[in-house]
Amino acid sequence: MGLPRLGVNVDHIATVRQARQGIRPDPIEAALQAQRAGAHGIVAHLREDRRHIQDRDITLLAAKVRRLDLEMAATVEMVQRAVQHRPALVTVVPERRQELTTESGLNVQKQLRILRRRLQPLFNARIPVALFVDPDPEQIRAAVDLGIEIIELNTGRYSEAKTQSKRKRELHRIHQAVVLCKEKGLRVNAGHGLDYDNVVPVARIPEIEEFNIGFSIVSRAVFVGIQTAVREMIDLLHSARKLSL
Ligand code: PXP
Repeated sequence: MGLPRLGVNVDHIATVRQARQGIRPDPIEAALQAQRAGAHGIVAHLREDRRHIQDRDITLLAAKVRRLDLEMAATVEMVQRAVQHRPALVTVVPERRQELTTESGLNVQKQLRILRRRLQPLFNARIPVALFVDPDPEQIRAAVDLGIEIIELNTGRYSEAKTQSKRKRELHRIHQAVVLCKEKGLRVNAGHGLDYDNVVPVARIPEIEEFNIGFSIVSRAVFVGIQTAVREMIDLLHSARKLSL
């Protein structure tokens, strides 16, 4: 297994910009700096309510970064945007207007038919698609039924666990989910809520190829700059993998 890759989510650079509805700080500049610091890819979530990333950001990111992972809900509008911009990866997430951030993985099992229909243009355009799901065997099996080849496991419950025992339980669930994904021939990414204090145990799981991390990196960048914040996270991911060898 190779070293884990880091995808840097720049949504919250745009959150700060939108606080004044101006042009700074610029998520494109953040993305280019993150890339310069060694980020493998850039992640941006174009939300239906456009609360942070705007359409223009996606146009520019698609043109300027090496590898864009477009996070989006499986709506007709977003699928059209994705086909238009052809990101390296589309990660499909559930979306609720009232939520502060993505709260859970997709219910693939319940939405199998609508997902199949909505995602078809992406399959036709041969754009790789990942589904963001909880570490739940039923959801992973449903993703396989849909013909999906990449899963992003939701680490949200692990990240939010308040006690050691709960965190251990959640880590175990992630581990089991990774084993099932590999049995089914799926590639595995992971993310949500990961930070400099909690990322190492998850990063030790050798089959996870890529970590998508946003909020903690942007928060750290306020104090040390985005390049240092990105380098620190990459060092942690790599050190975790080396420790487990
Ligand atoms: N992965 C997915 C699917 C997400 O929705 C998010 C949040 O936008 C992240 C990763 C990154 O989460 P965080 O900002 O908590 O690092």
